[in-house]
Amino acid sequence: MSVHTVDGSSSVPTSTHSRPVSIHDLKAIKQRGERFAMVTAYDANAASILDDAGVPIMLVGDSLGMVVLGYESTVPVTLDEILHHTRAVARGRSRALVVTDLPFGTYQLGSDAAMSSAVAALKAGANAVKLEGGGETITSTRRLVAAGIPVMGHIGLTPQSMHQFGGYRVQGRDAAAAERLVADAIALEEAGAFSIVIECVPTDVGQQITNAVEVPTIGIGAGHHTDAQVLVWHDLLGLTSGRLPRFVKPYVNLRDTIGDAIKSFQTEVADGEYPGPEHQY
Ligand code: KIV
Repeated sequence: MSVHTVDGSSSVPTSTHSRPVSIHDLKAIKQRGERFAMVTAYDANAASILDDAGVPIMLVGDSLGMVVLGYESTVPVTLDEILHHTRAVARGRSRALVVTDLPFGTYQLGSDAAMSSAVAALKAGANAVKLEGGGETITSTRRLVAAGIPVMGHIGLTPQSMHQFGGYRVQGRDAAAAERLVADAIALEEAGAFSIVIECVPTDVGQQITNAVEVPTIGIGAGHHTDAQVLVWHDLLGLTSGRLPRFVKPYVNLRDTIGDAIKSFQTEVADGEYPGPEHQY
């Protein structure tokens, strides 16, 4: 991602700049026609690595439930769990915007519930919250934004509704469904959302939604026309085992690298090679 204007001044704070990234920086990136990446983070170490790499947004996603806590889906994640990990990420970050997912059941009861969950997330160190869906979520988005809480929308495949969808399926495949997604995106923007995640939709639907709004769209399985892309930490780094969704591109195979390192440690311990003289007092 380019982060410099033509005169060479920094437009988005980089890892060598101390100014934290704001929601306004992200809108400015879209206006300049540039793209950016968002990555999930669940602990302080990951947050500091992402900051050093210059990633402008880290998402404390409720994917936490699946990739860290071992749940079958994101549905069981509780507010306490996401707040615990938000605190860790907030302690490790120095400049990226920290966005926290409001877990299933913590905002669906209406805007009062959304408000108290979002306030808890901000008190834990988040700079913004993400809510899944259109409909009622739009009312809650308007209320949170009016109270000064930045909101990221999330449409398309919204994993908290996987029981309603009957699994993890590509959304917006027919014209009517695509139109509904575009309408939801426009309504979220009008309600004050500062960006919108679009998950698992055909590429042309990702493009239609991106063209319909001025706020940055962040795609995951939504093609190459969105303003940004997000990947889950474990998927990006090749830590996930089993079959991966089509949109996942592991940039390294850390699962094997870590496994090999642990085997080397075991072997050296068994052979009496570790600890050597240089590791002893
Ligand atoms: O929970 C999560 O990690 C997410 C991203 C996949 C967008 O919502």
